[in-house]
Amino acid sequence: MKVLRTQEEIKKYALAQKQAGKTIGLVPTMGALHEGHLTLMREAKKNTDVVIASVFVNPVQFGPNEDFDAYPRQFEQDCAKLEDVGVDAVFHPEPSEMYPEGFCTYVNVEGEFTKKLCGGQRPGHFRGVATVVTKLINLARADKAFFGQKDAQQVCVIRRFVEDLAIPVEIHMVPIVREENGLARSSRNAYLSPQEKEAALVLSRSLNLAATAFKKGTVQVETLKQIIKDEINKEPLAVIDYVEIYSFPALTEIETAQAGDIMAIAVKIGKTRLIDNVILEG
Ligand code: PAF
Repeated sequence: MKVLRTQEEIKKYALAQKQAGKTIGLVPTMGALHEGHLTLMREAKKNTDVVIASVFVNPVQFGPNEDFDAYPRQFEQDCAKLEDVGVDAVFHPEPSEMYPEGFCTYVNVEGEFTKKLCGGQRPGHFRGVATVVTKLINLARADKAFFGQKDAQQVCVIRRFVEDLAIPVEIHMVPIVREENGLARSSRNAYLSPQEKEAALVLSRSLNLAATAFKKGTVQVETLKQIIKDEINKEPLAVIDYVEIYSFPALTEIETAQAGDIMAIAVKIGKTRLIDNVILEG
């Protein structure tokens, strides 16, 4: 696997693949790779000739009081995992390489939907995501880019600017990968103590309860939200950030739910903020 650290290196690598007639799949990550990321890599391998992963903890998408410094960084372990699944190249730049002196251009998706869910809680977050993802897609000359459903709102934002700015790339959303006990895989799970990890199961449990109620005929959004909140509130270590049910992918307010809508939650377990979601099935 090639390790690319500069813009020049990735541009040269991507151009060579294109000149050889290959399609390129990009999987942007912030590292601390887990099974969720590796599923994205496998999906990219199935769908494109050459897979470029990026490992970059993007400073621009973190707020001043967020976990940029604490975010787990384990590049060597990440490389071993990427080699294992057959990724062709990894791009691992320094922040100063991505944002050199004079950098002053940002991609800002302005739709109402960006102010909901994590966008409401984390001002500036999606501006940082949209900016770095645009740059990564351009550098990698990606034909297809792969993102996890766990960050469903992020996928909505990326699809929006890709369409609005006519960027010639296909965006693939890959379903959430869970541990056997239901916990959605996340790099931030590494922050949890064993007791907190147990408490964190309340996220998927509460969503499953509401999904089951929906399947049995409960469609009132307020009732479904209450089922989720009641379950989370039973867990002493959990504090709700938001519990929402919206249409998907538009993320508009709804009163009654139908298949395809999304139930999305953010919950603090101790100091760790976790997100999870379920797209309702009929
Ligand atoms: O989902 C993430 O890990 C990040 O937001 C992404 C897409 C790699 C951009 O930094």
